Amino acid sequence: MGIETQTGGFDGTWVARLRALRNVPPVLRIVWESGPGVVVWGCGLRVVAAFVPLAMLAVTKWIIDAIVAHVSHQQPLPHTFWWYVALEFALAGAGTIFGRAIAYCDTLLADKFIRRISVRVMEHASRLDLACYEDPSFYDKLERARVQATDRLVMIQAIGNILQQALTTAALAASILFFSPWLLLLLVLFVVPAFLGESHFAFLGYALNFRQTPTRRQLDYLRVLGASKESAKELKLFGLSPFLTGRFSKLSDEIYSQNVALARRRLLIGSLLSLLSTVGYYSAYALVIYRTITGEISVGTLTFLAGAIAGASANIQLVFSTLSGIADQALFLTDLLAFFAVRPKVQSRPDAIPAPRPIREGFEFQNVSFAYPGTSRLVLKDLNIRFEPGEKIALIGENGQGKTTLVKLLTRLYDPTAGRILLDGVDLGDYDLEDLCGQIAVIFQDFMRYEMTAAENIALGQIKDLENPQKIAAAARKSRADSVIRSLPRGYEQMLGRRFDGGVDLSGGEWQKIALARAYLRDAQLLILDEPTASLDARSEHEVFQRFAELTAGKMALLISHRFSTVRMADRILVLEDGKIAEQGSHYELMACGGRYSEMFELQAANYR
Ligand SMILES: Nc1ncnc2c1ncn2[C@@H]1O[C@H](COP(=O)(O)OP(=O)(O)O)[C@@H](O)[C@H]1O
Ligand SMILES: [Mg+2]
Repeated sequence: MGIETQTGGFDGTWVARLRALRNVPPVLRIVWESGPGVVVWGCGLRVVAAFVPLAMLAVTKWIIDAIVAHVSHQQPLPHTFWWYVALEFALAGAGTIFGRAIAYCDTLLADKFIRRISVRVMEHASRLDLACYEDPSFYDKLERARVQATDRLVMIQAIGNILQQALTTAALAASILFFSPWLLLLLVLFVVPAFLGESHFAFLGYALNFRQTPTRRQLDYLRVLGASKESAKELKLFGLSPFLTGRFSKLSDEIYSQNVALARRRLLIGSLLSLLSTVGYYSAYALVIYRTITGEISVGTLTFLAGAIAGASANIQLVFSTLSGIADQALFLTDLLAFFAVRPKVQSRPDAIPAPRPIREGFEFQNVSFAYPGTSRLVLKDLNIRFEPGEKIALIGENGQGKTTLVKLLTRLYDPTAGRILLDGVDLGDYDLEDLCGQIAVIFQDFMRYEMTAAENIALGQIKDLENPQKIAAAARKSRADSVIRSLPRGYEQMLGRRFDGGVDLSGGEWQKIALARAYLRDAQLLILDEPTASLDARSEHEVFQRFAELTAGKMALLISHRFSTVRMADRILVLEDGKIAEQGSHYELMACGGRYSEMFELQAANYR
């Protein structure tokens, strides 16, 4: 998927760090897209503000020279003198106001940027293959990308700041150069080591952070586990809290001690290097004082140069440390950009055709084999199935035989490893993905319980009907969710789940009815129920499927269930075993032939006797 190779492979050299700066332009593009107006204002203000320090120093020099001439040589003050004082005052005021205005623009831009990038991360994540989500290392990437999306704000401000700092430095440096090139050289020589040191540690910090991601993910999991609705029951009864807390502390201690070790080295070496740059500054300063004493330069120039040297050395340091900050931050962006670069494998082709309406010939699996990405075991082996319009098929088989996998292939959550799946004689891959999905309604075993209102929970099945209470209510009636909803204090507007204030939790069976309503809301040609009724008792499940059969009369339906009372309603029953169709036929045919089906049937019937 590219991400691991890109960041996992960084070798810790300066080259790698400089290479990371390549990440800056694409992010700047996102910054620009999130608010061009604000960006222009922020840059414009910074350019103007960058020259304020130099202008102030120049005015100060003029004022001091005028005062010295007046006091020591009894010359009259120039008639513009007080205007210059006023100008100095105005410049100081402008400097403050510019600073405020820049901060204001940054705040606006920060909000716009966070929104823009969060939306982009969400949009992109939604386009990725299901396979990504079933890959734990993908979660590390997604996690880093998420954090990066919001944490990289510092970098954006840094880029704005570096513009300002570089301009200020250039202006001050030019003025120092005008008086003495040696001064400038002295400054630069002493500041550079501090910069190299700073950025080296920033880099080590990133590398450390990268290595800590798996541990941090564990910490997050433990923290959630330690205080969540789902786990509370077991944690209390099994007395697991000390165990979890202990494990959490141990892991966080690990991270802490690694961080401290790095921070110590940074403290020691960083202090030495910044001492060096202080030496540079004061040597330059001493040189200027000496020249003033020998009368080479005026007192005004002394003030000017002292200010310019202080300003330039501070700004050079700032430029370097900001730059190393940007390089450091840019490294973090590697993950974000790599995340954006992950392309889904399952997607519509440019020349995709719309799904057939109505379906005329049905689905056909031709020698379909499938292994999950990254594994070699074939879950489905050389499967051949036909599935005709109007037909109701039941798929049975023990756990782990590949029933859900078959549904995932049918709905193109995955593409087959070998073989083809045809719909009306055309490969599924030739259809527009979104349009194809629109023709299929699926409720999975692990269906979602959305922490939203009852009406929204149903409407998510076909989001365009969100504002259509009649259709929502009709779907609820079909799935028998209406009686559940009627008993809720706020009816269809009732918030479900415990996450939000005033939410009401439902039982497993009640949630299933809501989920089923979601499927009924969809104008789909194929309905698939993948054991969503597992937590209903046998009689309710029977009732649900009976209704399902009536309601889907004339449509294609695929039922997956463990209960034979349900399964026997189907037109045709497929017994999936070891990735292959072991038997197929109607209930009576399969009973008569006395194979796997009748064996399983007898086993279940025996339990009820
Ligand atoms: N995302 C996955 N990655 C790897 N293997 C998987 C994944 N999902 C399911 N499997 C494996 O595929 C096999 C079939 O799973 P599944 O289709 O869920 O079975 P069923 O629905 O019949 O119980 C199982 O052995 C399971 O371990
Ligand atoms: Mg399953």
